[in-house]
Amino acid sequence: MQKLSDCFILANNVSIPCIGFGTWQISDDNTVVQSVLTAIETGYRHIDTAAAYENEKGVGQAVRSCGLKREDVFVTSKLWNTQRGYEKTLAAFDRTMANLQLDYLDLYLIHWPANAKQSPDWQTINQETWRAFEKLYKEQRIRAIGLSNFLPHHLEPLLKQAEITPSVNQIEFHPGYTQQETVDFCKSHQILVEAWSPLGQGKVLSNPELLRIAGKYKKSTAQICIKWCLQNGILPLPKSTTSFRIKENASVFDFELSVQDIQTINQLPHCWDSGFYPDKIDF
Ligand code: A2P
Repeated sequence: MQKLSDCFILANNVSIPCIGFGTWQISDDNTVVQSVLTAIETGYRHIDTAAAYENEKGVGQAVRSCGLKREDVFVTSKLWNTQRGYEKTLAAFDRTMANLQLDYLDLYLIHWPANAKQSPDWQTINQETWRAFEKLYKEQRIRAIGLSNFLPHHLEPLLKQAEITPSVNQIEFHPGYTQQETVDFCKSHQILVEAWSPLGQGKVLSNPELLRIAGKYKKSTAQICIKWCLQNGILPLPKSTTSFRIKENASVFDFELSVQDIQTINQLPHCWDSGFYPDKIDF
């Protein structure tokens, strides 16, 4: 990847710009509109939102008013957990599109798998939700469909039933929390891994080893985290509402991490994670 508009290619041949602008925890007011507009001005061509972020309206407004053609910005949203199941998913998708005020979506994800703690029927619930995703995909209302926070044991039963293989799995991924088994599973099934909270919500940026490596390249630890994702073949979704950080996080194409430094970061001991584990969450 040499620039922000360079793309990973999904299994269904859709191109997805290599760094997405994350919008989790950005409120649906002028803040999200301005942040997304700054990101697009900076050169980001990929915006990641979700029904649960409650900022789809502002994201859509920014995408519609940024001056680019619709096809030049890749937009992702996600189905929230209360809306699982075939009919509810179809209705929730309509609401997302009404919020965004866009004609089509580039990527739609199941935000979290139904899990055994929530329902003994969790596998069927995920399959039914996926069936609705497949219908929307076949109707060309979405260019690619995928998952978020699915671990291999959630993926396996879904893959057995799926007519259309998920293109993406978006998981928590940052130095000190790499979920290697899930990453390996996805890579072996041609499922692109996206990293949510690639900066560990800012909490891994003071890690001494990362600071040492950042000093060597004269880059910030945030830039090291983002570059490390890219060089691992993983698509990072850094979030910021601060203009200079939005720019800083995109300025990662003038250096390459050495194989040794990538391995050092891959092997960093656990330092922080969100605590949102897909089998334990009760939301
Ligand atoms: P802010 O939005 O105030 O700029 P993640 O993407 O891992 O969830 O991390 C998001 C958090 O990291 C936010 O608190 C954000 O703060 C902060 N952040 C984003 N970019 C940078 C950066 N380049 N340097 C330091 N902190 C950053």
